[in-house]
Parts: sequence; structure tokens; C-alpha cells
Amino acid sequence: MFKRLSHWFNSMRGKARPEAGVPVAAQTGVVVESKKSDRSLILVKELSPRARRHMLRHFLALEEKDRLLRFGTKLSDEMVTRYVENIDFARDTVFGVYDRKLRLLGVGHLAFAPREKTRISGATIKPVVAEFGVSVAAAARGMGVGSKLFERGAMRCRNVDVDTLYMHCLSSNKVMLHIAKKAGMEIQRDYGEADAYLKIQPASSVSVFQEAMEEQVAMLDYIVKANMRALFKWIASLSGKNKPRS
Ligand SMILES: CC(C)(COP(=O)(O)OP(=O)(O)OC[C@H]1O[C@@H](n2cnc3c(N)ncnc32)[C@H](O)[C@@H]1OP(=O)(O)O)[C@@H](O)C(=O)NCCC(=O)NCCS
Repeated sequence: MFKRLSHWFNSMRGKARPEAGVPVAAQTGVVVESKKSDRSLILVKELSPRARRHMLRHFLALEEKDRLLRFGTKLSDEMVTRYVENIDFARDTVFGVYDRKLRLLGVGHLAFAPREKTRISGATIKPVVAEFGVSVAAAARGMGVGSKLFERGAMRCRNVDVDTLYMHCLSSNKVMLHIAKKAGMEIQRDYGEADAYLKIQPASSVSVFQEAMEEQVAMLDYIVKANMRALFKWIASLSGKNKPRS
């Protein structure tokens, strides 16, 4: 625990690095192997409706081509705003990775839907399937944030007894297909688009504990960062007040 906290503390002092925290070894049955050593330090937090503002900032900062990759269609700012406003947090789960300034580096949206209402109704006998969509800020790519969000999405599926995770993306999306392949997803390509499916193992007490621990550490990390920011703002306001008037 102390080692984790020390990793986290170091990240607070670090510059443009993703967040520090829990070793991955995610008990999802899905671990997206990576060569990057510090990937195990990225913290994934479950987002609440209060994070809509952060999410909106993240999505609006995505370039047009990235919005196309993420949503499968070109979305205007207005449509992105509507998408964020309409996320149903009671049904779906949204995960995020924050930097030390509490900006979202990445967002993963796990949307749950009744099996019969999806195009993969034959893939499972469970009543619900999950679809995953993810985006990472351009400056934070290639560090493992997308893979960690994916792993966490798969872990959540496992722990809520959903055995099929689905992803839809453009066939040209080499990075996402690389992540999907590494996770062992079955990929079907069709007319420039690709569907990827992942079969998830049943939950275990270890997988439930692992996710709860990861969430606790990510939450603690978030709270400390928020308090540090408030403290720095307060100090800045004090030094502003103490400046001699000219
Ligand atoms: C797809 C996306 C989420 C990936 O996020 P990320 O944080 O950069 O991903 P990671 O760092 O975890 O992994 C990237 C992997 O792709 C590999 N990669 C990078 N460029 C690649 C390319 N041109 N072809 C194949 N693989 C590539 C990296 O080497 C890395 O693999 P490794 O972990 O085995 O070394 C991000 O690029 C993004 O937001 N794209 C725009 C939106 C999008 O495409 N969303 C997916 C649709 S659901």
C-alpha cells in the first residue's frame, strides 16, 4: 500500500505523466500487455454525473478526425455536448484517467444494452451486453491510457456478470484494433468498419476485490489532487493580496 501511495505521490510531483497508483495485473481475465513500464501506474476512476464538465472539455478538445474515430461519425460541438448531457450514468459506466491538474486524459464509456436490442444478440445468452468506446487526449497517447481504460471496462463487465464486450470501430483505426487484438478480441471486418467481441470470464472474489481496490486508490488520488489544487489557489490568492499596490 505504501509503495502504491509513494508511486502516487511521485506522480503528483511529476510533470506530464499519467497518474500513478495500482499495479495492473487486472483480474479481468483481460490484461492488455504492454512494453511500457509505467503503464501499471495509471489510475482509472469511475466518473459520476458531476464529471460531465470535465468530459465535455475532453471531447471538445478532440480533433475532427479523432471524433470520427471515436463516434464513427463527424460530430459538431453541439452534438458532442448533447452526447455528454445524455449519458445515462444509472445504466452505463464511464471511466476516466485524470492528470494532476484534474484534466481528463482519457474517457471510456461502457454502455449496457439488452441483448436483443443489439446487433450481437446471438453472441451470448446473458440478458445484457456491453459496448465500449474510448478516447485519449492527443498529448497523452501511446502511454497506455487507452489500454488501461479498456482493461477496466472489461473488469467491470466481469464483475457485473456481462460476458460479452463489444466494440465497433473503423477498419482504418490501427491503434484501436491493435489494442483489441492484444486483448484477444475476435475481430470481424466489413466495408471499412470492424466489430470486435471479447468473451469475458466469470467474476471471482479476487476480481471484485481488485476492482474495489483500484477504485478506492483512484478516488483517494482524485481527492488529494482536488485539495492540492484548492490549496495552491488559496496560496496564490493570498500572495496576490499581499502584493504591494502600485
Ligand atoms: C485509440 C486510442 C484510444 C488509444 O489510446 P492510447 O492511450 O494511445 O493507447 P495505448 O497507449 O494504450 O496503446 C496504443 C498501442 O497502439 C500501438 N500503436 C500506435 N500506433 C499504431 C499504429 N499505427 N498501428 C498499430 N499499432 C499502433 C502502440 O504501440 C500501443 O501498443 P503497445 O501497448 O503494444 O505498445 C487513442 O489513440 C484515441 O483516442 N484515438 C481517437 C479515438 C478512437 O480511435 N477511439 C477508439 C474508437 S472506440
